[in-house]
Amino acid sequence: KKNEFITALMNKMSVEEKIAQLNLVTPSAGTGPFKTKRVMEKLKEGSAGNILSVMGSVERIHKTASLADSTRLKIPFFMALDIIHGYKTIFPIPLGLSCSWDTVLIEKTARIAAIEGTAMGYNQTYSPMVDITRDPRWGRVMEGAGEDPYLGSLVARAVVKGYQGDDLTDETSMMACVKHFGLYGASEAGRDYNTTDMSRLTMFQSYLPPYKAAIDAGAGSIMSSFNDIDGIPATANKWLLTDLLRDKWGFTGFVVSDYNCVQELIAHGIAGDYKDAVKKAIDAGLDMDMASEGYSTFLKELLDEGEIKIEEIDQACRRVLEGKYDLGLFEDPYKNYDPEKPAKVTLTDENKEVAKLAVCKSIVLLKNDNNTLPLSKNAKIALIGPSVNDQFEMFSMWSQTGDKQSVITIFDGIQKLNEKVVCADGTFFTDDPDYLKNYGRYEDAEQLQMEKDAIQIAQKSDVIVAVLGESIAMSGEAKSMTDISLPGCQVDLLKKLKATGKPVVLVLLNGRPLTLGDNLQYADAVLEAWRPGTMAGAGLADVLFGNYNPSGKLTMTFPRSLGQIPIYYNHKNTGRPYTEGEKSAFKSRYLDEKNDPLFPFGYGLSYTTFDYSAISLSDTLIAGENNNLVVSVEVSNVGEYAGEETVQLYLNDPVASVVRPVKELKKYHKVFLEPGETQRINFKISPDDLKFYNSNLQWDWESGKFIVYVGTDSEEVKTASFVWKK
Ligand code: IFM
Repeated sequence: KKNEFITALMNKMSVEEKIAQLNLVTPSAGTGPFKTKRVMEKLKEGSAGNILSVMGSVERIHKTASLADSTRLKIPFFMALDIIHGYKTIFPIPLGLSCSWDTVLIEKTARIAAIEGTAMGYNQTYSPMVDITRDPRWGRVMEGAGEDPYLGSLVARAVVKGYQGDDLTDETSMMACVKHFGLYGASEAGRDYNTTDMSRLTMFQSYLPPYKAAIDAGAGSIMSSFNDIDGIPATANKWLLTDLLRDKWGFTGFVVSDYNCVQELIAHGIAGDYKDAVKKAIDAGLDMDMASEGYSTFLKELLDEGEIKIEEIDQACRRVLEGKYDLGLFEDPYKNYDPEKPAKVTLTDENKEVAKLAVCKSIVLLKNDNNTLPLSKNAKIALIGPSVNDQFEMFSMWSQTGDKQSVITIFDGIQKLNEKVVCADGTFFTDDPDYLKNYGRYEDAEQLQMEKDAIQIAQKSDVIVAVLGESIAMSGEAKSMTDISLPGCQVDLLKKLKATGKPVVLVLLNGRPLTLGDNLQYADAVLEAWRPGTMAGAGLADVLFGNYNPSGKLTMTFPRSLGQIPIYYNHKNTGRPYTEGEKSAFKSRYLDEKNDPLFPFGYGLSYTTFDYSAISLSDTLIAGENNNLVVSVEVSNVGEYAGEETVQLYLNDPVASVVRPVKELKKYHKVFLEPGETQRINFKISPDDLKFYNSNLQWDWESGKFIVYVGTDSEEVKTASFVWKK
């Protein structure tokens, strides 16, 4: 039925009308050098068939969508927006959400985003970002699920399911657009838009799985990335967009470029001029051109000159129309438009409850000396930090649609549970380059006065809560940094706060792992709270006072120092592995720094203590494809608080035909335990869990010994081994 409908429609379409379907325009300033002119006119006259980032009231958005009705064939538009971690109800940034390791919760946040976003008239979101990230200098690590392909794939699937629901035609379903295909997270030196370069083995083993998982979950669209892969920019990379994506993976949706990527093929140096760039992109399999208007300007000319075939335009047009059909737009282009709907479904108490839980679950307890946390509800608290009263600072670069007024500030959240809290800024945030170059040390009179005021209230308190880290402007697209430590003025403040002799709780707000290094000593307890969103203060207060026992686990390694980057847990071994403390020279190590990270992947403390038994195995010698192995441990809560633990299972294949990572996450299980409670956790391992890409890029397993690790993070583990033969 779909085929027939689209064939019939395409039979009526002129070449120009087909090309319009491939043209995506935007009235916004955008994130690149190209700015579309006469946007509304183009939609009205039918030379552009899709729009990105139209903002404002529901009526305005609807009016824009209705411009389709003035075109000859009345083909509805894709109404796209970057809805990344919530529409009006803003959840923690994706990196924070991933630290919950809770895919049910993550799916729920995407569902809520879809319900709120579709009520406003959007039908496509440029999310999830599933790029694997190993370099925290890159500002966009905040948008992904971190460094692990297994967890990243589970999160990708959950988010796609959340946006798209069970039925894409439902009025609350929004099409997901997986990004950025591919390998964008490996931008060299962490500099945005930079080249990526990696072996096919690493690509297939570590970077491609989350894109594939999102596609297998049914994502209707995918975005080509800014970077080149093996020398060919993704947007013009036939191997990527056709051979791999379509022929090997069977993707049937459409590919949209990232912002102005078609035009940028010229700067990349693979196209001599704009027209050449357009030819290369369509030949490679790029269906829709975001913002560069290269397709609308040159496709017809290229066709007339015989440089491209009509089948190429037809194919791309068909894919875009199929997407619109799948969304049910031909039946109801406005999906039950009701200007009253947003008020009914947006920022509801239920949505806020989920957002609050998401804040609690995304927070990672990095340090807790002398059980500084949880705080007593009667303690006199000095709350210090430039954003403790700031609603906007709880958002991220990608939550511009959020409703600032509804944000619960950190001060308000704490005050609700403890009226004795007093606050001061202590220092300030800015992304002024001069300030950043000076490590944030202005040491001007204003700064010193701010410090003095903060110290004064700190001295009168029982405990200090210092909220520091990055400002909203320091992470996101085009926010690469060469120094990811705390700015100098924050360190100065922290030292002075510590010198008061009061216990210091450091709460970090940031979009990337930071190099905290020596500064950890100035805090007795540290909570990583990311960029928490609408319910920031409520969630954080619950964690601070122990209404919620923190359970977040890092999904990106925290380096000790910048020089260790890239640093990630699932690295390969070398021929000269180094054990910390070893005296021997000529080993794979740094002279001036340890090899291990400050906080490893999977790390996160709790107010309670979980004890792990030794691993028991159902067998140690297993044969054949059809067998399973049960790996089990007993986990006990031996502390005083009820809490949730994420029990993690890693595997290593110590002898294989190619060098394998020292550890790979294969399974995990979240368990909630009352004090004194013990549970046995069983993991079933099958030969599928032993598979890897060999040097012929075949996904297979090899007989031999395997080492299994189970523990509370990727380093603190119990170990056992087994042999599995084919
Ligand atoms: O979706 C984004 C992408 O992640 C980065 N460039 C701009 C796009 C549209 O806003």
